Amino acid sequence: MFGKRGNERAPSQGAATMPRPAPPQPASASPRPATPPPPAPSAPAAPAATRTAAPPVPAPRPTADKSPEYYDRKSQVFAALIDTIDLSQLAGMEQEAAREEIRDIVNDIIAIKNFAMSIAEQEELLADICNDVLGYGPLEPLLARDDIADIMVNGSRQTFIEVNGKVEETAIRFRDNQQLLNICQRIVSQVGRRVDETSPICDARLPDGSRVNVIAPPLAIDGAALTIRKFKKDKLTLDQLVQYGSITQPGAEILQIIGRVRCNVVISGGTGSGKTTLLNCLTRYIDEDERIITCEDSAELQLQQPHVVRLETRPPNIEGEGEITMRDLVKNCLRMRPERIIVGEVRGPEVFDLLQAMNTGHDGSMGTIHANSPRECLNRMESMIAMGGYSLPSRTVKEIITGSVDVIIQATRLRDGSRRITHITEVIGMEGDVITTQDLFVYNIVGEDAAGRIVGRHQSTGIGRPAFWDRARYFNEEQRLARALDASLPEATEAAI
Ligand SMILES: Nc1ncnc2c1ncn2[C@@H]1O[C@H](COP(=O)(O)OP(=O)(O)O)[C@@H](O)[C@H]1O
Ligand SMILES: [Mg+2]
Repeated sequence: MFGKRGNERAPSQGAATMPRPAPPQPASASPRPATPPPPAPSAPAAPAATRTAAPPVPAPRPTADKSPEYYDRKSQVFAALIDTIDLSQLAGMEQEAAREEIRDIVNDIIAIKNFAMSIAEQEELLADICNDVLGYGPLEPLLARDDIADIMVNGSRQTFIEVNGKVEETAIRFRDNQQLLNICQRIVSQVGRRVDETSPICDARLPDGSRVNVIAPPLAIDGAALTIRKFKKDKLTLDQLVQYGSITQPGAEILQIIGRVRCNVVISGGTGSGKTTLLNCLTRYIDEDERIITCEDSAELQLQQPHVVRLETRPPNIEGEGEITMRDLVKNCLRMRPERIIVGEVRGPEVFDLLQAMNTGHDGSMGTIHANSPRECLNRMESMIAMGGYSLPSRTVKEIITGSVDVIIQATRLRDGSRRITHITEVIGMEGDVITTQDLFVYNIVGEDAAGRIVGRHQSTGIGRPAFWDRARYFNEEQRLARALDASLPEATEAAI
């Protein structure tokens, strides 16, 4: 089952063994909008821009003028409030209506608990609670900024952001860990989840599609840790990656060809190295008539083709039931007559199903894997297969991998914060028990400039005929491939400098 796919590497048979499937164009395949909106969470709140324009929520007051008793009361009222109301419904209401709703309930709670408070104190408490329940508090200004890639909150006293590949600390502070936890609670309640001591780990999503992870005390020792990967509506294109120096123009052409000619591709890289961005770029070069199925933990890809089915995993509910794993999705995909399967992030045993798909006629499937080099990526795939509990001999596992993966593309975030595509590497075969690879295109670091920026060159390694040459020829792309490789030769790139 896992022998080399077809004979695509035998020149004379290339075309014969790779008939272009001509999927029937279903009448119902209506064109999708150019930028599909992220799937709405169960109760979408107003987007950040309109949220900030809504009636102003009183700003949190400094800690100094509040007594411990005040905070104790506030947390009691807050706890009673979230037991009483459905925060996800509240999130869907107009701000004013939501405030009125909260006001009524808070007044009742104060009466039931018999707290002796003046009207002014009650108003203050109400404003404070509304701010936590209806807004993102101190996070608001960060959420409104487009230049931020990640927001990392480590307890109430420390918030870091990543801008242009660099992580920096901000002056944002939360009043206390309780306020931070309340905001986390509000975020996750929008997707119908809850974060507290009994379920302290939670993944969620903001209404704009940003990915959120919360890990709360007691697991997070110094207060809740909140991590937000901001959703960028306008995904970077290959042209922009060329502009930013992440790859050269000829390098970008090689990537386009790899995307178009249905190579099976694994994009490897560390966290935030640009894997998803690159995957999104590659999918742009897929032909319009292919049926594509995407599987993601949180929908980030924005495919432009008309015939796409988007699938998303589901975490377990509060009772720990109903989880749909990536593996479940990939397996199901195989029954959906896909021509290509695109897996957002391969983390575990689903790698086996993806490789199987690559191997059984779904050429052009793609996925990303967390690894720091193409070689490490191969090792990760082996260990992920082992995680699936298959007791296959190591050699067989390696054969499965070499039989399935054509190209590994390595994305790296360098120490100066720049992101580069550092390898385009082909998986060639086996020599003894070792998988053999060949680098087509690499980024060679030559030094550092005065400002500490890394200087390097993207160059081809002199291989004139990649193993996917016949595929390229079949798609009439071999001339372009040869030109791009030639233009990347060290002689050519050095002459150009
Ligand atoms: N080549 C690049 N140059 C500049 N910014 C990039 C580049 N690639 C990705 N980014 C930005 O970096 C952030 C993380 O990218 P992403 O593709 O989500 O990383 P990963 O999937 O590896 O975690 C995003 O905000 C994205 O816009
Ligand atoms: Mg990613």
